[in-house]
Amino acid sequence: MWLEGFLRDRFRRALTKEKVIALQNRIPVLDGRFRGIDQVGLYLHIPFCRQICPYCPYNKELYSSEVAERYTKAVIKEVDIYSESIGSKPITSFYIGGGTPTTMLYSGLDKILDHICKVLNVECDIHMESHPNDLSLGNLDTIISMGVQHLSTGVEALQDKHLKTLNRPYSVEEAKAAVARAVGKGFKCVNVDIMFALPGQTYGEIEQTGRALMEMGVDQVAAYPLFRFPYTRMGATGNGNNHISFDIFKRKKMLSILEAAFYDAGFERTSVWAFTRPGVPKYCSVTVPLYVGLGASGGSYLRDIFYLNTFNVAEYIRALENGRMPIALSLDLSVNMQMAGWLYWRIYETRFEKSDFKARFGKDFDSIYGKYIKPLALLGWLQDDGQQVALSNEGTYWLHMLEDLFSIQYVGRLWGTSQQEPWPEKVVL
Ligand SMILES: C[S@@+](CC[C@H](N)C(=O)[O-])C[C@H]1O[C@@H](n2cnc3c(N)ncnc32)[C@H](O)[C@@H]1O
Ligand code: SF4
Repeated sequence: MWLEGFLRDRFRRALTKEKVIALQNRIPVLDGRFRGIDQVGLYLHIPFCRQICPYCPYNKELYSSEVAERYTKAVIKEVDIYSESIGSKPITSFYIGGGTPTTMLYSGLDKILDHICKVLNVECDIHMESHPNDLSLGNLDTIISMGVQHLSTGVEALQDKHLKTLNRPYSVEEAKAAVARAVGKGFKCVNVDIMFALPGQTYGEIEQTGRALMEMGVDQVAAYPLFRFPYTRMGATGNGNNHISFDIFKRKKMLSILEAAFYDAGFERTSVWAFTRPGVPKYCSVTVPLYVGLGASGGSYLRDIFYLNTFNVAEYIRALENGRMPIALSLDLSVNMQMAGWLYWRIYETRFEKSDFKARFGKDFDSIYGKYIKPLALLGWLQDDGQQVALSNEGTYWLHMLEDLFSIQYVGRLWGTSQQEPWPEKVVL
């Protein structure tokens, strides 16, 4: 594992010029942060689930209607704090994630959304995550009445034995019926999440999963390899490091089997892990470069700063009840860090225009990153036509593996610490 650490250190220094990246327990001054920003993205975190899955890295606790009601009031207070600074700037991307947002369908989610739409200038569609067990016809009508137009649900596997390993509380038949109900409701996009490279999973099962997904009538599939985060129950029982060493070639073959099924059905790759029916707007998290994260563990990125709310739901509520911002950690971002972050997300999306980089940073893309792009083009990992850079399937996989060197470790440290300590002093990434 020393090689992983060595590579991480080399890449970090080359791309960000930073010896150490550390988030500090410091509440940033938000006054003036929105000046010069012409559009804002919103992320809302719902940190409740009806069960805790053994592999899940996200911030969540078991649902209780009483806590959800108090959480609703706290989020509304947080929205009010931001509404003064955001004013009438358009909200052009809005994502509700979790946890499981559908736990709060009848305990405050409607109030939060009404309030956001009343005090902020929401000009975009709403994208939301859901759990298959929450997708009754009645609940789907409630979801639509709240203004959600793009829905995602975590099916995760299409073999009962794998659902059992993952401790998912439904059968394949029930999950398919839930998806069919959602598809029948006419959302602009229905996305299904699936995980692969599961313990004992075979290529044949992957092939069957890919074909079955395409028969379900969904608009998008997000297929993630199972990552083992050290602080999860599943990570704690594994060797803790196999997020990267776990048979990356087997994983690659599984992804190419899925890709073949999706491409055969006419789907297009829209990010490293997502495949979308052509002509359908892609289901995705916040897309605007600058965004505000609401709720426990909500993260915000405002050009030269990134900050994170406390993960602890009780502390989040307490802070807002006492009129304090619930921010636990923040990181000032140098221009090099901002540019590296920009490149990270463009690689994730698998294609980008160089002119977008110029518009964002006022610098020529090739003068900063040309030296890295040229050898990657020679390897066949990407094509560079001078204006646009587009990753090949091969490049998408291997470049993302490289990104994982950072993201799994960084997420593990940041989220792992934040789930243990409500207000950490410092987190070194
Ligand atoms: C917040 S959950 C989806 C909504 C809902 N809570 C549910 O479980 O159905 C987000 C998605 O992340 C993916 N995910 C969660 N843990 C993962 C892990 N350890 N490795 C890879 N993907 C993971 C799953 O596909 C999951 O559907
Ligand atoms: S996978 Fe979904 S339901 Fe399971 S714990 Fe994570 S957020 Fe909750």
